[in-house]
Amino acid sequence: MRITNRILFLAATILVSLCAKAQKFENIGMTPQMGWNSWNKFASNINEKLIRETADVMVEKGLVDAGYVYLNIDDCWHGERDSLGFIREDSVKFPSGMKNLVDYIHGKGLKAGIYSDAGCKTCGGLPGSLGHEYQDAITYARWGIDYLKYDWCNTTDINPKGEYKLMSDALRFAGRPVFFSICEWGDNKPWLWAKEIGHSWRTTGDIWCCFDCVKDHGTWKSLGVMQILDLQDGLREYAGPGHWNDPDMLQVGNGMPVNEDRAHFTMWCMLAAPLILGNDLTSMKQETLEIITNKDVIAIDQDALGIQGFKHSSYTGLEFWFKPLTNGDWAFCILNRSTENREYIIDWNKFNLTDNFSGKSTEFDKICYKVQNLWSREICGNTNKERRVSIPAHDVLLYRLIR
Ligand code: GLA
Repeated sequence: MRITNRILFLAATILVSLCAKAQKFENIGMTPQMGWNSWNKFASNINEKLIRETADVMVEKGLVDAGYVYLNIDDCWHGERDSLGFIREDSVKFPSGMKNLVDYIHGKGLKAGIYSDAGCKTCGGLPGSLGHEYQDAITYARWGIDYLKYDWCNTTDINPKGEYKLMSDALRFAGRPVFFSICEWGDNKPWLWAKEIGHSWRTTGDIWCCFDCVKDHGTWKSLGVMQILDLQDGLREYAGPGHWNDPDMLQVGNGMPVNEDRAHFTMWCMLAAPLILGNDLTSMKQETLEIITNKDVIAIDQDALGIQGFKHSSYTGLEFWFKPLTNGDWAFCILNRSTENREYIIDWNKFNLTDNFSGKSTEFDKICYKVQNLWSREICGNTNKERRVSIPAHDVLLYRLIR
């Protein structure tokens, strides 16, 4: 296309989109998104070899079968913009080009995700999309991108709702269905305004790989699993099919002990959170693979009702969580936040409850549920009798209560 044609084309697209009342793509993310992202483990140290190997392993190790469909390239894939302002990939890290890499990802039965930022630069200091939203959306569509994570660094004096809507409209205009993942860390309460704009929104700052800590980086802090969990309080009514609270990507397999990894994964499933893996899939331990591919646990996250779970009560370091599921089932979880192993006797009648948000009741006085332990995979009795259980420190007990 000649330069004048290109400019005319861009002007026309912008005009049309300003007039159209575009909404986000519907029927995407009807259950929380599942996949892998490069950031938590590799940060800026990414290249096409890593992405290809990750795609291979996602198929070979059964991750695609378990539901992990998005392979997302985070920050630092960027080269420079060309003379017309179109973004290019870093040709040293991605010598075959992004289009070829995306074709490879698609060839494996996966979907491809990419990252940009609403500001002038990404958090890693590379070109952001500010002023290039339509160009970038068109470039992603040309490459075949299916998922965009859109960050919030370097955004002084711009309006979050306006900027995210602008990119959502640009994606819509470019025409290729894209899952739009809003990443402004919950700073501007996106749960109040992003439902029509994106498919998920981060609710907090970045996750750090620890169970219960805050990591101080000087000018900013990142948060452990428990800190992020606590910040989800009060947000469940904003989530549902096609619009999810996102408490950030998983740190499972990145160095916590197996009990903490299990607790982290379980709580993200209780929250109906996106399950975006963040570990090195090519070299993970068997125990990590077993956690992230437990289909019964994943089914709690992916339940079609799409209702985020809630904390019912707590007692000496134990927290009791419930999540309503399809067919009248419930997920029930005891989280042991303490550093000691704990014994507990479950008297189901103490948990007779009605969830005002979903209108569902447990009715343990009327209904006898079959109890399935989703980590040991045993069926262990029913809710007619009390149960004595032990929950190791920083671990969970997770039951599906089956009607
Ligand atoms: C922000 C995001 C992270 C990651 C980095 C990349 O901190 O919250 O998830 O994308 O930027 O620079």
